[in-house]
Amino acid sequence: MSITNNRITMSADQFAKMAKIIYDRSGIHFPDSKKYIIESRLSQRVAELEMENFDQYIGYLTMGPYQTEEFQEMFNRITINETSFFRNDSQLDVFENQILPELLESRASKKRLRIWSAACSTGEEPFTLAMLIHRTLGVRLSDWRIEILGTDISEKAINVANEGRYTSYAVRTTTSLMKNRYFKQDGRDFVLDDTIRSMVNFEKHNLKDTMAAKRHGTWDVIFCRNVLIYFDDDMKAGVLSMFNNQLAADGTLFIGHSERIKTLTDQFTQLQIPQGFCYQKTDHVTTKGS
Ligand SMILES: C[S@@+](CC[C@H](N)C(=O)[O-])C[C@H]1O[C@@H](n2cnc3c(N)ncnc32)[C@H](O)[C@@H]1O
Repeated sequence: MSITNNRITMSADQFAKMAKIIYDRSGIHFPDSKKYIIESRLSQRVAELEMENFDQYIGYLTMGPYQTEEFQEMFNRITINETSFFRNDSQLDVFENQILPELLESRASKKRLRIWSAACSTGEEPFTLAMLIHRTLGVRLSDWRIEILGTDISEKAINVANEGRYTSYAVRTTTSLMKNRYFKQDGRDFVLDDTIRSMVNFEKHNLKDTMAAKRHGTWDVIFCRNVLIYFDDDMKAGVLSMFNNQLAADGTLFIGHSERIKTLTDQFTQLQIPQGFCYQKTDHVTTKGS
């Protein structure tokens, strides 16, 4: 019987099978050292389904019709959704003060700007970008068509984003000035201003699904921070290639400050902006430089 302290335990073999299922569907790579995460987060689920062990759960996921809802439930539980408003502000300074002004100039005739926050978790990142754009454009905002899309594989996270209601933990690195300007306090919660909420749309999206990414068309800026770390090199390379297809010729890709992509692709070249961790298409950078 695989139950210890009322918890259903997972053998090394069961972990290997679960890790493969998760990787095949999402690209999320769980090395052996992270077995405890899968075990602790899914054993409760196995019990809820009144199953006795992980073998039954694995059978449920892999045999018979595709268990769309169960996969969703599983992703809701196994993903790490850590985020906050104004996360890594030095990088956001680069966006606001260097990348955004250039884009506003180059898009001045069409007055349309499209930004994708890929794997946005509970929405703090795309809402932060909306605040920065709102602050930059001021009254000119109504002249522009600003489209900001936040996507994530976790439906639970997307539901939180759609609520626009946050705990003090989410705004822990937000200045009082920005808190006063863009949030209303309701008890212990921080409720986001409707103007900012209306600037962002959310959708469930799995970065492994390149066809779905195509449907969204071309983006001027893609933020994909603190997500690639969960993928192996093959998945990272696939995602980067998809970003390359979906990014405008002069668009910019922002990744997390601890993430490196140089050895994975030659399609992107890092911009020489300290603390930017931002990239443009190699063709574009070469043309600009020549
Ligand atoms: C640590 S959070 C990063 C949130 C935000 N980008 C930031 O930097 O604050 C990582 C997010 O990646 C999402 N994620 C993991 N694998 C994904 C996939 N294959 N497709 C889409 N989102 C994924 C998780 O659900 C999680 O919300």
